[in-house]
Amino acid sequence: MSSVSATTVPVPAPKTFRVKSFGCQMNVYDGERMAELLAADGMAPAADGDDADLVVLNTCHIREKATEKVYSDIGRIVKDAKREDGAAPLIAVAGCVAQAEGDEIMARAPAVKVVVGPQSYHRLPEMVAQAASGQRATETDMPAEAKFAALPKRRKSAPTAFLTVQEGCDKFCTYCVVPYTRGAEISRPFADLVEEAKLLVAGGAREITLLGQNVNAWTGEDEKGRKVGLDGLARALADDPDLQRIRYTTSHPNDMTDGLIAAHGEIEKLMPFLHLPVQAGNDRVLKAMNRSHTAESYMRLLERIRAARPDIALSGDFIVGFPGETDAEFEDTLRLVDAVGYAQAFSFKYSPRPGTPAATMEDHIPASVMDERLQRLQAALNRDQMAFNAASVGRTCEVLVERRGKLDGQWLGKSPWLQSVHFIGEAEIGSMVRVELVEAGPNSIAGRLL
Ligand code: SAH
Ligand code: SF4
Ligand code: F3S
Repeated sequence: MSSVSATTVPVPAPKTFRVKSFGCQMNVYDGERMAELLAADGMAPAADGDDADLVVLNTCHIREKATEKVYSDIGRIVKDAKREDGAAPLIAVAGCVAQAEGDEIMARAPAVKVVVGPQSYHRLPEMVAQAASGQRATETDMPAEAKFAALPKRRKSAPTAFLTVQEGCDKFCTYCVVPYTRGAEISRPFADLVEEAKLLVAGGAREITLLGQNVNAWTGEDEKGRKVGLDGLARALADDPDLQRIRYTTSHPNDMTDGLIAAHGEIEKLMPFLHLPVQAGNDRVLKAMNRSHTAESYMRLLERIRAARPDIALSGDFIVGFPGETDAEFEDTLRLVDAVGYAQAFSFKYSPRPGTPAATMEDHIPASVMDERLQRLQAALNRDQMAFNAASVGRTCEVLVERRGKLDGQWLGKSPWLQSVHFIGEAEIGSMVRVELVEAGPNSIAGRLL
């Protein structure tokens, strides 16, 4: 839907902006692109601590709490912030809540002047101009034609950069809003991605994380016209001598192809870390979730991945308290966790989402039961994360230096297994240093610079 609604009082064109991104890494990527767009349009990012003339809330719809945050944030901005001329900042809502609830936002929050969905944000500058001139603007079309072509070229990058290669989801897990907020699966063209990666590396990136709601479903045609999967893309990017590391997230178990599995043993720059959500360990629950894999097929898949890359660190997502989940079924999730030994993981209480099939299923689980299950699951996951970190002590590895730490001479970076490593010594941001891992904590590891 694309519309112009209710005329409001014109305000001076915004000169400064702030983009606040919530939710997944794809939203972080979109937030960066929106900031680049606004800057190319002549606006400046607001300095830390300063109020901005334009605030873009780049929102997430995945769970109820995430969605509610939008409204509380809008309220806070209106209350706290004052522009030089005494007016509240112009508020734009982008991201998945904009897509799912654009009309409600416009009705419920008069302070919001722009609503723009994840597939339309290339139009943000013109919509902001329109809003400043006194006309609220909404754009939540999901056009097949790519927004990417309309975005400015990448210039600067941190040592670690995100690159969205695939968008949308056709999997329709019964609890999930993503297929509705992000639309059908599309893959960005190979050549565009190679070019964007080059620009990111030229701008300072040493590690690129390829992003997609189902990143391993990416397919394209390489420069010779051959059909390639994500492994082919990773191979092409790995040819750039200045790019040191490649990661990708998030993958669906069913899209882990033989080629991608093999790539973990073949492409040195492909890091030994894989985020591969399983959601639950019980087959009845997995079926009700429409996950199209079983606990056993997932475990067999992990075996093949570990055969290709024995030191791979595994990560996952879990939902506890899916409608109808019994105690015994939940125990299967704990058993699966014990069997896998995750290096890290995210776990959530099931949150009913409007319009999804699971929201109208029977036997919703009481909050107290979900709380208890989540606590037990997180205790197990924390135990395994600590064990994984402890087992790394004594290893020597490369660390990509990302920023300075709090202590004098301290630096922070990541190990190949995505652990946060801190060490003291001579280094610079963006460099790769050799470090011995000497002391493990639950969330980070102390290293000794070699
Ligand atoms: N495309 C990815 C991630 C999707 S969202 C994937 O398929 O794995 C990230 C995570 O949020 C999901 O993996 C799931 O664990 C969680 N999630 C999604 N919908 C949810 C809901 N309704 N309630 C609770 N957690 C949810
Ligand atoms: Fe959501 Fe499932 Fe798609 Fe992941 S695969 S985005 S959980 S519908
Ligand atoms: Fe949230 Fe949308 Fe990402 S719902 S998790 S921001 S795809």
